[in-house]
Amino acid sequence: MRILAIETSCDETAICLMEAFGEAGVDLSYRVLGNTLLSQAAVHAQYGGVFPNLAKREHEQNLVPLLTETLREAHELTRRLGDAANESLANEVGSILTREVELARQLEYFVRTYETPDIDAISVTQGPGLEPALWVGINFAKALAHLWQKPIVPVNHLEGHIAASALTHDARPVFPAVALLVSGGHTELIVVHDWMQYALLGSTRDDAAGECFDKCARLMGLPYPGGPEISKLAAEARARNLPPIFALPRPMIDSPDLDFSFSGLKTAVRRTIEKHGTLSEDERRALSREIEDAIVDVLVKKTLIAADRHGAKSIIVGGGVSANAHLRDSLLRKASPYGVAVLFPPIELATDNAVMIALAGYLHAARGHYVQASLLVARGNLALAS
Ligand code: KG4
Ligand code: ZN
Repeated sequence: MRILAIETSCDETAICLMEAFGEAGVDLSYRVLGNTLLSQAAVHAQYGGVFPNLAKREHEQNLVPLLTETLREAHELTRRLGDAANESLANEVGSILTREVELARQLEYFVRTYETPDIDAISVTQGPGLEPALWVGINFAKALAHLWQKPIVPVNHLEGHIAASALTHDARPVFPAVALLVSGGHTELIVVHDWMQYALLGSTRDDAAGECFDKCARLMGLPYPGGPEISKLAAEARARNLPPIFALPRPMIDSPDLDFSFSGLKTAVRRTIEKHGTLSEDERRALSREIEDAIVDVLVKKTLIAADRHGAKSIIVGGGVSANAHLRDSLLRKASPYGVAVLFPPIELATDNAVMIALAGYLHAARGHYVQASLLVARGNLALAS
């Protein structure tokens, strides 16, 4: 089965064309035929975070160029013989993309210029995420599905992150598994009983782990997204063996539940900086290390408790923060005495991308989980489990 996947939940516009066969955990095999991504990080950096309406506008401009590039990469971009302007086609596209006028114009040109590609279904991120951003991808998927007469599979973005970690290794997860989802918007521990069977164990009560990295970075004057920046400085502090001159709390590390809280950590960083005054380069490195240690200590401890309590045979880590080298090292090291396999996504699939939406989409498409386009709506707060 060939799936075209669309991801626009936050500040990355991404499209993937994937061919997949078989069943997850049995004989699944897949091939990425085309895959493109445009990050808007630089556009949002000046604001220190993601602006939903700006993200929406960027997605609108990026989708058709990325679709063209993805299909070209997959050798599925074939020119039509005639490409005369066609008023009824323009009306048809415009009636679906009523609010995305620029996208409608580009798409109308695209469909009268190129043949329908050889695909079986379209998967698109339904949520969670920024609603204005999600809607662009969803309306684009609806328009393509209508014009090409293909079915749509809605995908939960968080399930996409799990798929990027659980389906991309030769070793498949053994269930039950505990999933740690750590991104800019989420920090959740989930027990995975089987493929697509989830129950929520705990989540953050305030800021997400990635959000904490981003906000602390901002307090230190580092650019958005802050996770990779802090991680780089922290690695330098370790490499140079800088003395630990700062001490930050590990919020909720000893609480009996599996919840998290990171807003107090950000406040502690603010106070530390206010008290200390201007930071030297080495002091910024030392503070970055302490921030990273504090976040990672809490994530690792709670994940291992969750794994123990639920008899997990594997740990699946997903979301942008799963790119963090210190989290990877620490979790692998501390989980190894328990004989639990720890699965991380390949680095390039840790942050948002469309390969993960194609993988999760395939799991559902293989089971016929299609929706009627008219019923598909963006769900900014869509949960994976309750
Ligand atoms: O999954 P993702 O790309 O988008 C959301 O769904 O939110 O995650 C983005 C988050 C940002 O907060 C970013 O700072 C964080 O992931 N991140 C990292 C690293 N790379 C990305 N945090 C820590 N260390 C990293 N290497
Ligand atoms: Zn994400």
